[in-house]
Amino acid sequence: MKAIVRTKYGPPDVLKLEEVPKPTPGDDQVLIRVHGASVNAADWHLLTADIFLVRLMGRGLLRPKDKILGADVAGRVEAVGRNVKQFKPGDEVFGDIFQSGGGALAEYACAREDALALKPASLTFEEAAAVPLAAVTALQGLRDKGKIRPGQKVLINGASGGVGTFAVQIAKSLGAEVTAVCSTRNLDMVRSIGADQVIDYTKEDFTTSGQRYDLILAANGYHPILDYRRALSPKGIYVMSGGSWAQMFQAMLLGPWVSMTGSKKMGALSAKANPKDLAFVKELLEAGKVKPVIDRRYPLSEVPEALRYLGEGHARGKVVITMEHSSNT
Ligand SMILES: NC(=O)c1ccc[n+]([C@@H]2O[C@H](COP(=O)([O-])OP(=O)(O)OC[C@H]3O[C@@H](n4cnc5c(N)ncnc54)[C@H](OP(=O)(O)O)[C@@H]3O)[C@@H](O)[C@H]2O)c1
Repeated sequence: MKAIVRTKYGPPDVLKLEEVPKPTPGDDQVLIRVHGASVNAADWHLLTADIFLVRLMGRGLLRPKDKILGADVAGRVEAVGRNVKQFKPGDEVFGDIFQSGGGALAEYACAREDALALKPASLTFEEAAAVPLAAVTALQGLRDKGKIRPGQKVLINGASGGVGTFAVQIAKSLGAEVTAVCSTRNLDMVRSIGADQVIDYTKEDFTTSGQRYDLILAANGYHPILDYRRALSPKGIYVMSGGSWAQMFQAMLLGPWVSMTGSKKMGALSAKANPKDLAFVKELLEAGKVKPVIDRRYPLSEVPEALRYLGEGHARGKVVITMEHSSNT
């Protein structure tokens, strides 16, 4: 099969399109004929090892152990291991296969069945592949860490990216009044996916406006943690799911201290895929409450360009990978 392979850490140029053996599913695994994939910041970090921690997290100290990247996948089940109960050959599935070792940037990939769900019939493979990692991150940030409730004022910083576009729609579907923070060129897009208010971060700093929010999800960008605290209502919650290094470290190191010393709660999210949350997101997709926003599509051979574009940090929604053998209906 064709796959995008790397043998060392580095920029997107280290990725090569190669012929490699088709994987064989283990007893607990499903073999998927990949029809769509999408790229995430996690792929960028694993590719470049820009966070040194990547090398220490069992992904390979000097050279990467995972030769084929890619967490988000959608495709058709080709074969199943003997312990697989939920799926059969021919089923159309989607999911985040990061915890199964990744490998979605290839014509075939193997995954544990609990990483997958049946693809909503109303979505193309490309649309379905855009969903799992980013949407589940947004859901876990808003619902689990953020304790979102109907009627609350919720602000999403970085609302125009992969996680942010799902966060806006999921927060709306859970009954919140949503303020989306993005740059000028994305204002209309975030309004079109349901944001009640929009703030252009190139013109206005929401942390100094005097407005208070019950929940702030920081999906991207940067503000000092004490500025976020000022923008919270007295019992408000701040959840950092992404953004600059400073934003991440402040949430991880100072968040617990701020939470202990007052009524506002501040902390970091480390999202983890699970079947219940994928099923929850699937229901929202089927009900038409959430729709993936797709910025660009690249064929498998152009994954390096796709990752280069994602790495610039200005994608509008998701960047998806189409497969040449795909019949995307
Ligand atoms: N915690 C977790 O478990 C978890 C899970 C998934 C992702 N993440 C992290 O979350 C972050 C976002 O992921 P993503 O997939 O949404 O990334 P993404 O799609 O690459 O985000 C790009 C978007 O961010 C916006 N942006 C850039 N600078 C901004 C700023 N200063 N203020 C507000 N918005 C800004 C861009 O809008 P403009 O072009 O208008 O600037 C663009 O639309 C990444 O750092 C990723 O590593 C964490």
